[in-house]
Amino acid sequence: MAIVIIRQDKKIDLWKNALLRANPELKVYSYLEEHPKEDIVMALIWKHPEGSLSGYPNLKCIASAGAGVDYIFEDATAPKHVPITRVVDPYLASDMSEHVLAVILAHLKNLNTYKLQQVNNIWKPRDYKRIKDVTVGMLGLGELGALTALDLVRTGFEVQGWSRSKKNIGGVNTFAGTNELSGFLNTTDILVCLLPLTPETKGFINTELLAQLPKDAYVINVARGGHVVDADLLEQLDKEQISGACLDVYHQEPLATSHPFWQHKKVHMTPHYASVSDTNSVIPQILENYQNLREGYKLLNEVDRKKGY
Ligand code: NAP
Ligand code: GLV
Repeated sequence: MAIVIIRQDKKIDLWKNALLRANPELKVYSYLEEHPKEDIVMALIWKHPEGSLSGYPNLKCIASAGAGVDYIFEDATAPKHVPITRVVDPYLASDMSEHVLAVILAHLKNLNTYKLQQVNNIWKPRDYKRIKDVTVGMLGLGELGALTALDLVRTGFEVQGWSRSKKNIGGVNTFAGTNELSGFLNTTDILVCLLPLTPETKGFINTELLAQLPKDAYVINVARGGHVVDADLLEQLDKEQISGACLDVYHQEPLATSHPFWQHKKVHMTPHYASVSDTNSVIPQILENYQNLREGYKLLNEVDRKKGY
């Protein structure tokens, strides 16, 4: 039994060393080194090269090193019979919650606008908003959305959330399903997207959706670039239906330097780093699943292949 790590960033050694520190007996390989393919039962992956999951005859688990698994479904060559697991981790959730809170407060207090003014030596005080003045609406009330919603409630925000199935989250006004989407959007001043990217949610943030938000609403996308129809968002920003957007994720990453988001005064960009898997925190669940594979037990955090998340 062995694990192969497949990712295209520079973090293969980080994950390999963390696994070996936790259990020096493990057999762990980088996909870039010579390795016995028939021994591999778990592939620990993040944005693997397309095709790299083929050729492992005894693969029993594809473990995403992050929360999202959209990139696995996008690879038509990835084996369809192998269970997929994803990361559910308290730091991943609290890092996201802290990021969203920082973005919302920066928006309410005009911090990004002041930074632009500073660059141009402009002294121009602007009206600011208070926490009590706005309602935050979470698209997605899963592991990350639910904690973010709860933390925003604790901070004093009016918070509502929308998901596929109805939720009961203390202090959060919850909506579910397509029938309740309009009611949710009509009363959301700051929209935060924490949906998984699936065929149902692709292009979800489009003209039709943005038009249902109150005028001057603010949009925060920390889920996946594919949720947003970029041209629609740009149009609604220019028409002043939407007052601004903070984006962490993009259709293409890194985003092409020619993309209009880079230069747009109302778009605040961060480089897909809102919340990143903390190796030491995540390794125990990977090892527990490795043990579960060995003993034939149910896997933790298994993805529902039918739902796509
Ligand atoms: P999760 O636990 O699977 O939660 C997903 C939520 O979205 C659930 O509430 C689900 O509803 C809802 N949902 C899914 N499809 C829906 C649909 N068609 N209509 C309505 N609601 C729908 O996911 P998570 O762990 O919170 O993560 C969410 C996403 O965040 C990930 O998939 C990833 O793309 C992104 N992410 C980004 C970063 C970053 O740094 N930017 C970091 C980590 C994760 P039900 O509960 O009813 O199923
Ligand atoms: C990051 O984007 C993740 O899905 O964990």
